[in-house]
Amino acid sequence: MQSRTIHVSTGRSYDIEAGTGLLDHSGELIRPITKTQNVAVISDSTVAKLYGDRMMQSLAAAGFTAKLHIFPAGEKSKNHTTLLGIYTFLAQNGYTRADLIVALGGGVVGDVSGFAAATYMRGIDFVQVPTTLLAEVDSSIGGKTAVDLCEGKNLVGAFWQPRLVICDPSTLKTLDSRIFSDGMAEAIKHTCIRDSALFDALLGGAAVDEDFICRNIDIKRRVVERDERESGERMLLNFGHTLGHAIEKTYNFETYTHGEAVAIGMVLITRQSEKKGLTQKGTTKKIETLLKKFGLPTECSASIDDIVKAAASDKKRADGGITLVLLRKIGDAFLHRLSDADFRRFFLEDE
Ligand SMILES: NC(=O)c1ccc[n+]([C@@H]2O[C@H](COP(=O)([O-])OP(=O)(O)OC[C@H]3O[C@@H](n4cnc5c(N)ncnc54)[C@H](O)[C@@H]3O)[C@@H](O)[C@H]2O)c1
Repeated sequence: MQSRTIHVSTGRSYDIEAGTGLLDHSGELIRPITKTQNVAVISDSTVAKLYGDRMMQSLAAAGFTAKLHIFPAGEKSKNHTTLLGIYTFLAQNGYTRADLIVALGGGVVGDVSGFAAATYMRGIDFVQVPTTLLAEVDSSIGGKTAVDLCEGKNLVGAFWQPRLVICDPSTLKTLDSRIFSDGMAEAIKHTCIRDSALFDALLGGAAVDEDFICRNIDIKRRVVERDERESGERMLLNFGHTLGHAIEKTYNFETYTHGEAVAIGMVLITRQSEKKGLTQKGTTKKIETLLKKFGLPTECSASIDDIVKAAASDKKRADGGITLVLLRKIGDAFLHRLSDADFRRFFLEDE
């Protein structure tokens, strides 16, 4: 078993084990971190079909008694009904706070299972086994867990760090190409904010392999270690998101995936900050080229005016101002705080 260990030093620290084929070694990797025999595996309908048996076999081989709970795949399942289903499954099968949850799947499985783990019996240990690119480089790291409400995404949640993350890049082979590209948007975002060498390597044709995934994980690790609760530096991870959310909203959450909208958002905001002299010339072009390489959109038909209006109405509720994430250059992001009026001016005036 070939594995690389990335240690995450948050309040409750843990390791990320990354390596091809690790899924089949999940049981032996989990064995040292728990005293329990009882493991609840939570997965979605697509991932369970693809990888459920291998996970269950690996846990059994390591001496665990494991049961599998499956909910329908997709963002629509990230809600209180699914959460209640998980609580009921745990309670009916007699799981206690001493036992362990394994979240096998993408960001939805990780977020909802993580929130169930944070709250069931006031907190039970959990292990993330991410199976999408987005989950491997982003959502499984940093301890944010949540469910959506009709009123908005991730409105109910908790910070709850996993005890272990097992990242097996070979699971990405079965991903739909659009979902893979969606994860690439966040991976490219990471390089834009903190790692110009990795950005350039990707631009130069480097493969999205285990090495790339580990280096990308490491960018998020460094950011969340410095700011576990998102009071400062962690906000840099929102690069492209203010306009990205607004684009998703403008198109009624139907036309663009989240990653696609973030891709367009990164381009629009960087183009504007380049015009304002806040970003090194040529940065927008580089980002556009890299996004296109991975099949991501870099523009949309909505006017910047409409996108900015949608962004302003989104953020007004917060505290009357907006914090933008801008790049000085690739790999060097900073926070730029604006009042609502200045926010409109930032986009609608070129100087
Ligand atoms: N907690 C965080 O810090 C954080 C960060 C970013 C995003 N998120 C959340 O993550 C979620 C999005 O995650 P996602 O993009 O992984 O979505 P997802 O979990 O819905 O997965 C996308 C689709 O891919 C399928 N799938 C998963 N793994 C597969 C595989 N190996 N092969 C084939 N199909 C597979 C799933 O069944 C699903 O249909 C959102 O809810 C978002 O809010 C959380």
